[in-house]
Amino acid sequence: MKPVTPASANAPLQHLEEWEDFLKERYPAPAAPASSFNAVDPDKKKQQFRNYEAEARPSVREFYRLNHQHQTYDFVQAKKQEFLSRSRRQMGIWEAMEYLNTLVDDSDPDTDLSQLEHLLQTAEQIRRDGHPRWFILTGLIHDLGKILCLYGEPPWAVVGDTFSVGCAFSETIVFHQFFAANPDAKDPRYQTQLGIYQSGCGLDKVHLSWGHDEYLYHVVKDHLPDEGRYMIRYHSFYPAHREGAYQHLMSEADKRMFDWVRAFNPYDLYTKSHERPDVQKLRPFYEELIAEFFPQKLK
Ligand SMILES: [Fe+2]
Repeated sequence: MKPVTPASANAPLQHLEEWEDFLKERYPAPAAPASSFNAVDPDKKKQQFRNYEAEARPSVREFYRLNHQHQTYDFVQAKKQEFLSRSRRQMGIWEAMEYLNTLVDDSDPDTDLSQLEHLLQTAEQIRRDGHPRWFILTGLIHDLGKILCLYGEPPWAVVGDTFSVGCAFSETIVFHQFFAANPDAKDPRYQTQLGIYQSGCGLDKVHLSWGHDEYLYHVVKDHLPDEGRYMIRYHSFYPAHREGAYQHLMSEADKRMFDWVRAFNPYDLYTKSHERPDVQKLRPFYEELIAEFFPQKLK
């Protein structure tokens, strides 16, 4: 990735990958097994978070500032209305992958892979590890929602660690202090631990901050098994799947299904390498896999 030049140092995220690089700094090791999910020392965690925040590059910091300021309950409702209530365009999965690939990243073309190559790399690693076909397919498509960028959405409304809106912002969210500028922080309805939700209501009923995860989830949810749906909707829900937050909103089924979200996370975070997959050679396998689960065109 190109070093950030002084002129753009305070601009939020020139490349979506800057957010992912920051995630890898924060979570350098694969997720711990589910049994040790809650075995975190909160004080130690807080201190570590502060260190990462202090060392984050200015563009990443600015990205989180905007994300935390603008992702309100009303903003999420408005985006759902805008993107989920009508069809913008009908597209097949492979076609959407090629469309995402037009997202031009001006980082170094010799070392950085295209969006399509990243998706194939994730899927190929899942395939090599002998996982079921729906799991491979989930890896292939999990970031397709980033086409929101091509619809003109700013990075803070496409990527970022997700969190629930309509209730208090979890202390485990990185750069928590930036929520002070979020109008919901002054709305008493949204600032209790439960907010507008009921205890154990299940995450299906909970509104998450808007981004590529939520968008893609709604587009593909009728075509994937539950495990894949969970992986898609919650793959950036780091406060929940890495920090153990929001347990009070989860149903027992959510808690069980999060084992799958955690099983997916290492493929999302750690499989990216500079090894270029052979797109044309792999395409027939993936076209067949896509056709097994999806109609020719999706809304
Ligand atoms: Fe993602």
